[in-house]
Amino acid sequence: MTVKVPPLKCQGIKTRLAEWIKDHSALDDNGTWFEPFMGSGVVGFNVRPRRAVFADINPHIVNFYNAIKDGKITAGIVKEFLEHEGEILQTQGESYYYEVRERFNKDNNSLDLLFLNRACFNGVMRFNKKGFFNVPFGHKPQRFAKAYVTKIANQIKYVVQATSQYDWTFVCVDFRTIIPTAAQSDFIYCDPPYIGRHVDYFNSWGEQDEQELYELLSTTPAKFILSTWHSNRYRSNPAIEKYAYCFTILTREHFYHVGASESNRNPMLEAIVLNYNPLLPVEIEAEKQLALFEKPKEQYVVYSSPSTN
Ligand SMILES: C[S@@+](CC[C@H](N)C(=O)[O-])C[C@H]1O[C@@H](n2cnc3c(N)ncnc32)[C@H](O)[C@@H]1O
Repeated sequence: MTVKVPPLKCQGIKTRLAEWIKDHSALDDNGTWFEPFMGSGVVGFNVRPRRAVFADINPHIVNFYNAIKDGKITAGIVKEFLEHEGEILQTQGESYYYEVRERFNKDNNSLDLLFLNRACFNGVMRFNKKGFFNVPFGHKPQRFAKAYVTKIANQIKYVVQATSQYDWTFVCVDFRTIIPTAAQSDFIYCDPPYIGRHVDYFNSWGEQDEQELYELLSTTPAKFILSTWHSNRYRSNPAIEKYAYCFTILTREHFYHVGASESNRNPMLEAIVLNYNPLLPVEIEAEKQLALFEKPKEQYVVYSSPSTN
């Protein structure tokens, strides 16, 4: 599968794990895909469910996708905008990036967010305590070369087509509001912030959130996959232990290259927690008729029997 990269990127984006997560998801034909921590939306966008509710507490992400859905942002509009802004950036350099950043923090224009997201350092989205976008310039004045703008316009086109073809909604709500609305035939994919990593205005995540998420997932009638981390060279994730009692946990190695913090320097064993029986890796292989050597390294650790079917 060629993973479709979404137009907005964010910390903890699951581009490299999207296929793995998709392979293990299990959405009924009549069910709705719930993604309470959509971030970039890369997982759901690649699953392409017929009905989906994408939610995030960050209103800028949600506004961006609603603007696409409403036809206010199209591939053509993005191309024209980025070509124009890119030209100014090339001439004026760094100072123009900060001008756009100030403009975005005043007006919250979704196109400015896209520009900042692609011109900032490391292509992330980070907001300070006042809720202002605060990522510094990525030091590439020629960032918006023709080919790069075309690539982003194509990413927009993909979402435009999907939102016109499928019943997808984008809402700005807390996970505590959205998870209880999922029914038995629905599927929930959860990718909350990891405690202590990428902390910003929209990503403050603590023990209380972790516990409330656990309680909601433990009682939902829907099937779910929760993305989390299992361990790195130094420690194991204490939050995963409680899931091990009654859910299935699968792990896969993931390398983080950016940043200097402990968790970013080292290989991290990423985990997914499931409340149902996933297909075995061999079954997935058979289904997709892919040669084993084409698959990335993965490791399956089944801690306990799944609680449902
Ligand atoms: C790790 S990111 C999700 C990444 C996403 N799966 C991807 O691949 O791009 C976590 C997301 O959860 C959102 N978030 C944080 N706290 C939240 C909350 N209480 N309710 C809903 N969303 C929340 C953040 O704004 C962020 O976009």
